[in-house]
Amino acid sequence: MGHLFNRNVLLGVSGGIAAYKSAELVRQLQESGASVRVIMTRGAQEFITPLTLQALSGNPVHAELLDEEAERGMGHIELARWADLMLIAPATADLLARLAAGRADDLLTTVALATAAPLMLAPAMNQQMWRDPATSDNVHTLGSRGIHLVGPASGEQACGDVGPGRMEEPAVIVAAAAGLFESGLLAGKRVVVTAGPTREAIDPVRYISNHSSGKMGYALARAAAEAGALTTLVSGPVTLPTPEHVSRIDVESAREMLASCQALIGDCDIFIACAAVADYRPAETQADKIKKTQEQVTLQLIRNPDIVSAVAATANGPFTAGFAAETNDVLSYARDKMQRKGLDMIIANDVSDSTIGFNSDDNEVTVLWPGGKRALSRAGKDAIARRIVALIAERLASDG
Ligand code: PMT
Repeated sequence: MGHLFNRNVLLGVSGGIAAYKSAELVRQLQESGASVRVIMTRGAQEFITPLTLQALSGNPVHAELLDEEAERGMGHIELARWADLMLIAPATADLLARLAAGRADDLLTTVALATAAPLMLAPAMNQQMWRDPATSDNVHTLGSRGIHLVGPASGEQACGDVGPGRMEEPAVIVAAAAGLFESGLLAGKRVVVTAGPTREAIDPVRYISNHSSGKMGYALARAAAEAGALTTLVSGPVTLPTPEHVSRIDVESAREMLASCQALIGDCDIFIACAAVADYRPAETQADKIKKTQEQVTLQLIRNPDIVSAVAATANGPFTAGFAAETNDVLSYARDKMQRKGLDMIIANDVSDSTIGFNSDDNEVTVLWPGGKRALSRAGKDAIARRIVALIAERLASDG
C-alpha cells in the first residue's frame, strides 16, 4: 500500500451520514504518515462533532469563513497553501453541485477554489441522488477539471436503499490518495543517493566533520522511492529515520562512502551526490586519545577521494547529479564544478543563507545541466526533492 509520509492532507467533511466515517479516515491518514487538518461544513457538524475530529487530528477544526480568531491563526488562504492534497469525504450531492458551480459560499468551497493542491472527492449520498442527471452532470464537470473521484461504493445504504452512493471505506480512500503521489517517473530505475556529513577521525574520540543534517539527501531518497525507483541511501552519521521503501547503508568516513558507492555503481541508473563529504582528512589517525599537554597541536590534512567524480568517470556509469554548496558566485562555481567533475546535472545551493542550506527544513536551489537551468523557489526539502527528481526524469527521457 502507498503512503502519505510528510504530506499535508486537508480533509473536508460535508453533511451526510457517512461523516461518522471521517473519524476513522483521519486516523488512517495519520497512520499512513500524513499531517491532517479538518474543515467541516455546518451540516457535517450535525453528524459528528468538531471536538472528535480535533482530538483525532491534533489540530483545531476549521468551520467558519468569516472567523476573526481562525484567520489570526491559520487563515483560509494559509490552509489552502498548506495542503499537499485536499480530500473531501464525504462529498454530498449539494457539495458536488456547489463545487461544480465554482461557488465560494462557505469555508470548504472557498478553500477548494483557493488551493493549488490536487482535489479528491469521496461522494456519499442516496443511490437515487447519485443517479440523478444533475449529479451526473456535476460529476462529469468536476472530472473534466482534473478533480479526482474515489467511489462511491455500491451496497446497502443508511436509508435502507441498495445501490451506488455509499462512501468508500477509509482504507480505499487512503490508498487512492497515496496513489496520487506515486508518479512512476522513475519506475524500475535503481537510484543511489549519498546524504549527510562524513566524519574523519583525528583520534578515537575526535573527528573533522560539518553541519550536514542529511535532511536534503533523505528527502531525495524519499522522492526517488515515491517515483518508483529502487533506492539506496549511503548515509553519513545523522539522526534521521530511514525513509520507507529505501535501503540504507551507514558509513562514517569519505573512504567508507566511496567504497559503498563503488560496490553499488555497477547496478545503478542514477547517482545523486548530496552528501557533504569532508574534502580533507587527517594524514594520520592517532591510535590513542591525544593528551592536552601541548599549547598547540598541528594537524596535517590530506585530500579525500572525490566520490562523485569517481562515479561520473565510470565507463557506462549512471546519470550523475551532484550538489554545489557555495557561499558566493554560486551559479558560476556550480557550473565550473559540473564541468570539472564530469556531471550530468548539478544543484547549486547557496549555503550562505542559513534558512536554505545546512540543517534547514527549507531549501531554494538552481538546477543546472549542460545547456539548461531551472530555479526552484523556496519550499520544504521534500517538495524541492520531488522537483529535482522530476527534472532528473525529464533529463533522462530527453537523453533517450
Ligand atoms: O544535509 P542538509 O543539512 O539537509 O544540507 C544539505 C546540503 C547543504 C549538505 C546539500 O544541499 C548540499 O549542498 N550538499 C553538497 C555539499 C558539498 O559537499 O558540496 P561541495 O560543493 O563541497 O561538493 C560538490 C559535490 O561533490 C557534492 O555533490 C559532493 O557530494 C561531492 N563530493 C565532494 C567532495 C568529495 N570528496 N566527494 C564528493 O563526492
